[in-house]
Amino acid sequence: MSRQLVWQSVSLILFVTVWEFGNASRILAVFPSASVSHQVVFRGLTLALRERGHELVVVTPDPVRDPNLKNYTEIDVSYIYDPNIKLDLIELRRKMNWAEWICTVADGFHVVSEQIFDHSEFKKIYELGSGERFDLLLMETLYFPAFLSLAKRFDVPIIGMTSLSPALNLQYSIGNPILSTHQSIWDLQRNEMSDPPTFFERLRNFINVWKYIYYFNTEFMPAQHAIAEKYLGIEIPDLGEIERNLSLIFINQQAPISYPRPNVPTVVEIGNFHVSKKSEPISKDLQKTLDESKQGFIYMSLGSNVKSTMLDKKSRSEFIAAFSKLPYTVIWKFEDEFLPGKPDNVIIIKWAPQQAILAHPNLKAFVYQGGLQSTEEAISHGVPVIGFPVMADQDMNVNKMVSLGVGKKLEITDVKRDDLIEAIQSVATDGSYKQKMLNLRELLNDRPHDLLENAIWWTEHVIRHRGASHLHSSTADEPWYQRQDMDIIFVVTAVSLIASTLSLIIAYHLLSYSINAFSHHQLPVKKKKKM
Ligand SMILES: *[C@@H]1O[C@H](CO)[C@@H](O)[C@H](O)[C@H]1NC(C)=O
Ligand SMILES: *[C@@H]1O[C@H](CO)[C@@H](O)[C@H](O)[C@H]1NC(C)=O
Repeated sequence: MSRQLVWQSVSLILFVTVWEFGNASRILAVFPSASVSHQVVFRGLTLALRERGHELVVVTPDPVRDPNLKNYTEIDVSYIYDPNIKLDLIELRRKMNWAEWICTVADGFHVVSEQIFDHSEFKKIYELGSGERFDLLLMETLYFPAFLSLAKRFDVPIIGMTSLSPALNLQYSIGNPILSTHQSIWDLQRNEMSDPPTFFERLRNFINVWKYIYYFNTEFMPAQHAIAEKYLGIEIPDLGEIERNLSLIFINQQAPISYPRPNVPTVVEIGNFHVSKKSEPISKDLQKTLDESKQGFIYMSLGSNVKSTMLDKKSRSEFIAAFSKLPYTVIWKFEDEFLPGKPDNVIIIKWAPQQAILAHPNLKAFVYQGGLQSTEEAISHGVPVIGFPVMADQDMNVNKMVSLGVGKKLEITDVKRDDLIEAIQSVATDGSYKQKMLNLRELLNDRPHDLLENAIWWTEHVIRHRGASHLHSSTADEPWYQRQDMDIIFVVTAVSLIASTLSLIIAYHLLSYSINAFSHHQLPVKKKKKM
């Protein structure tokens, strides 16, 4: 009996090992955005895939650098964080919307693409005859389509990934409907709109959206294509066509905290990949300060891309004045040594163990820039927010939080102390913000599967079937004017216009002819009478 049990166990172990071994794949992952908030999301998946027994080669500017991680090779491109580029994102917000900015700085994206292709270790992998083989390309699909070419180089399917909801260019590539005035289109974030939007606002968005898509496909993509061919030394099909064929796209767009929209079936929702399940370490000093803030404390951070030092003198003094009037301690992630005029209740720290701070029971409110990863962290710790959106999807995230009653929105280019005090006081004292945040967390956790496990399953699904053409929507293959029947609307409108104009002209001629005929007919009669 026990012998049989032993045999059963042995064969089970053998089976599991063989199964694991037989399914181990090699995955090339390329994540070119110099933004740690993007990278922590991707890392959540790549590390989990490694634990599943796959072997990964990861191109990233934020490597884990853990020598104990076997089968996890990192190509460190941290040099793309260029300290010489001093970009004032708050100033940028005053000037243009995000899509316009992408067009303005396009060359910067091309330079970074070349810098990554230039990495000597990376070259050894992609150069012809390197002998490297992969089963999948996993890549960030935001603004670096040049790397899509690697799928042709290695003849593998691609899974795209975004740490936020997709940019317009990706919506277009994958065949999603282009909804130029929908709240999910964050690329136009600075275009203020009425609710509901007026006809002219919609017209403006329509023009801006298609102008951007046109630009991206006719200028940005071809420039990226040239870079890819230069480095790979092979002929690459149109990058737009490769992107249309993405097997899947992992998108950080959980329905309850985004603006739900129609998506093609290749879209798989992800989320919370970076939220740590265990508590982060926190310094003794900080722990003590937080514990001793019996009145409660406020935490302020503008994230990793926006620096508090980008605030001009006036805004900074508004923050200081508002904070000094609060009965709470304020923990401010501030990247300078000194904050002139710092009130006693304000503590500045250069780097913040954010998740540990958010987890502290004395925290009353989180003043932030509206980044998606910070939003997810705030929700998972049940902390209401006050958002000062600066760029990209941040307006959309904060708008959503406001609409759910879990936060307030203020304007970073026009900070006013009274508004800030009012916002903090009401979020901190009115319990409904906190309660709604807790409800939201519950809603977000109520799902049939773990999002990370789901993403792993889909990744292996694509590897097993060498792609997922069964999910491909032909909407992606249609030219822009067919997608939303624009050509038909144009022809129908033109034909009706021509037809009605023609009928008007004909009617006019008929009428004037008959009037003429009538008066000619009448005159002789009159003449006759007179005669
Ligand atoms: C690394 O991955 C390969 C499969 O690509 C596998 O055979 C090997 O056992 C893995 N090594 C470790 C230490 O996990
Ligand atoms: C895209 O997929 C279609 C259908 O599978 C295929 O015919 C075409 O060659 C693919 N294009 C590229 C660039 O991979």
